[in-house]
Amino acid sequence: MSAAERDAWLAALGLVRWERRGAAVSPAGEIERVAGGEAGMATGVEVGRDVDPAGMDWAALRACVADCTRCGLHRSRTQTVFGVGNPTADWLIVGEAPGAEEDRRGEPFVGRAGRLLDAMLAAIGHSRESVFIANVLKCRPPDNRDPSAEEASACRAYLDRQVGLLAPRLILAVGRIAAQQLLETAAPLGRLRGKVHRHPRHDVPVVVTYHPAYLLRSPADKARAWEDLLLAVRTAAGASS
Ligand code: URA
Repeated sequence: MSAAERDAWLAALGLVRWERRGAAVSPAGEIERVAGGEAGMATGVEVGRDVDPAGMDWAALRACVADCTRCGLHRSRTQTVFGVGNPTADWLIVGEAPGAEEDRRGEPFVGRAGRLLDAMLAAIGHSRESVFIANVLKCRPPDNRDPSAEEASACRAYLDRQVGLLAPRLILAVGRIAAQQLLETAAPLGRLRGKVHRHPRHDVPVVVTYHPAYLLRSPADKARAWEDLLLAVRTAAGASS
């Protein structure tokens, strides 16, 4: 991505006055792996509420999620939203749960918040094809309510397996729910931002930032989100932050 293109994305983020901090932002060439799409659906995969996703490959996991009935959300969903992006990506972006548009289209972050997430990623030289994007919940909670503890725990093994399969260099948790679920903590977002955490079961650094839907409501915090993104870039690059 050229400097002009990056500036355009930063402008879209509302961050027009951008100062480069050291080597924080990687050049466009940082995207090492070409987006390849996910593995296709498996056939003959065993699915159901008692199947453990722990040893599954991408195709089996996707099929398992598509048939999931572990919690009540399967009754109201149009379809499951497994995740999208590069299955060998260095970055995993984790959000909360599909909304109405995501439930309709089967892809995470495709509404207004998704467009802002795209802009945030583009500002650091990434795209939805160069990262992998998933949610804590694979099904939409009705009326966009927060996931219940039961729903989050029913879905946990799926995200856990996605983390294991991807083995990313970095997980970016967007929003309180994603951060709390990934880090298995009840700490508020304000206490989780600004530091590098470790995933409790996978040896992967986790950086926390605001949910793009929140940033749409509170654009003043976009500057802080930018700081979080720079921390994530430094962390993924192997800096100790
Ligand atoms: N918000 C999320 O957390 N995830 C989505 O996929 C869409 C909106």
